[in-house]
Amino acid sequence: MKKLFPAYVRVPVLFFIAAFTLEFFIDSGSKPAFIEYPMVSLFLLFFAFLLVAIEIAVSAVDNVTYHLLSPEEKMELAAKEDVPEVSISDRIWYKKMMQMLTKSKPMDSEGELLLDHDYDGIKELDNDLPPWWKYLFIFSVIWGVAYFVHFEMLGGDDQEMELQQEMAKAKIDLEEYKKTAPDLMNADNVTLLADASSLAKGKAIYETNCVACHKADGGGQIGPNLTDAHWILGGGIKNVYHTLMEGGRDGKGMVAWKSILKPTEIQQLGSYVLSLQGTNPVDGKGPEGEIWKDENAPAKVDSTGTPAVEVSPDVAANN
Ligand code: HEC
Repeated sequence: MKKLFPAYVRVPVLFFIAAFTLEFFIDSGSKPAFIEYPMVSLFLLFFAFLLVAIEIAVSAVDNVTYHLLSPEEKMELAAKEDVPEVSISDRIWYKKMMQMLTKSKPMDSEGELLLDHDYDGIKELDNDLPPWWKYLFIFSVIWGVAYFVHFEMLGGDDQEMELQQEMAKAKIDLEEYKKTAPDLMNADNVTLLADASSLAKGKAIYETNCVACHKADGGGQIGPNLTDAHWILGGGIKNVYHTLMEGGRDGKGMVAWKSILKPTEIQQLGSYVLSLQGTNPVDGKGPEGEIWKDENAPAKVDSTGTPAVEVSPDVAANN
C-alpha cells in the first residue's frame, strides 16, 4: 500500500500538531501547559503511544494481507508501486502558477528574446520583469508617496508622539483606577500620616461621623475612649485601619466604614484618631482593652481575616 508520508514523518507530525494545539488552547500562564498540568503530559504520552501502536497494527495488517496475495497479485502490486512519482515541478498546476507569476518564455522560444549583442560569447536575453515583482514595485512606490504625504506633509504622529499619547492615557487610566481600587491600600501596608493637611481632613471626617459615639475629643461615650493607650481591637495604624474598615465586634455598634469612606479617607481618619493619643480629655471613659505598645507590629488580622504578614519598611513607605 502506498502512503503519502512514511510513518517516521507521520507520527511526529501528528504528535506535534496535538502538542501545539494543546499549548494553544490551554491557558497555563508563563509555563508551558505540559509542565503546569501533569495531565497534559500524561495525555501526550498516551497519544504518542497510541500513534505508534496504530502504526504497528496497520503495518502488521499490511504484512499479513501481502502474504495472503497470490504470486500474480504480488507482481501486479509491485508493478503498481514502481510507477514513478510525478515531481512537483512537473505538475500542471505548478507550471501554470509559475507561468502566471513569471510570464517567462519557454526555453525553446528563447531565440525571440535574444539581444543582438555578444560579450565574448556571453549573450543576453530580454525577459519581461516577472509580474509579481513589477506589481510589488509599483505598490511600494505608491505606498512610499502615501507615507511621505501622511507623515512629512500632513504631520501624522510618529512613534515618539504615539508613545507620549499612550503614556498620557495610561496615567489618566491609573488615576481612575486608584480612585476606585480598594485593594491598593490594606491593613498591612497602610502608613500613619502626620502632615497637617491629612490630619485636618481626618478631623473633618471624624467630626461628621464619629462624635456621636466617641465624642468630639475622643473621650468616648457609647464607643470606647480613643485617646488612652488601651485598645480593645488593637492600637497602631494597622489595627485601627482594620477596625475602621471592617468595624468592631458584632453587636457592639461600631460598623464597618469601608462602604462609606474611601481607603485614603480611612487612612486620614485613623491617623487623626491616633494623633489624639495622650490628650487626656475631661470625663474620658475609663480604659477598656489592653495597653498597646508595639507600633511597628503587623496587624493582628488583615482584611481577609487571616493573620497578617510582616511588611517590609520600604513597601510600607511606598504607600
Ligand atoms: C454607633 C456608635 C459608633 C460610631 C458612630 C463610631 N463608633 Fe467607633 N466604636 C464604637 C463601639 C461600640 C466600639 C467598640 C467595638 C468593640 O468593642 O468591638 C468602637 C470601637 C472603635 C475603635 C476601636 C477602639 C479600640 O479600643 O480598639 C476605633 C478606633 C473607633 N471605634 C473609631 C471610630 C471612628 C473613627 C468613627 C467614625 C468614623 C467611629 N468609631 C464611629 C461605636 C461607634
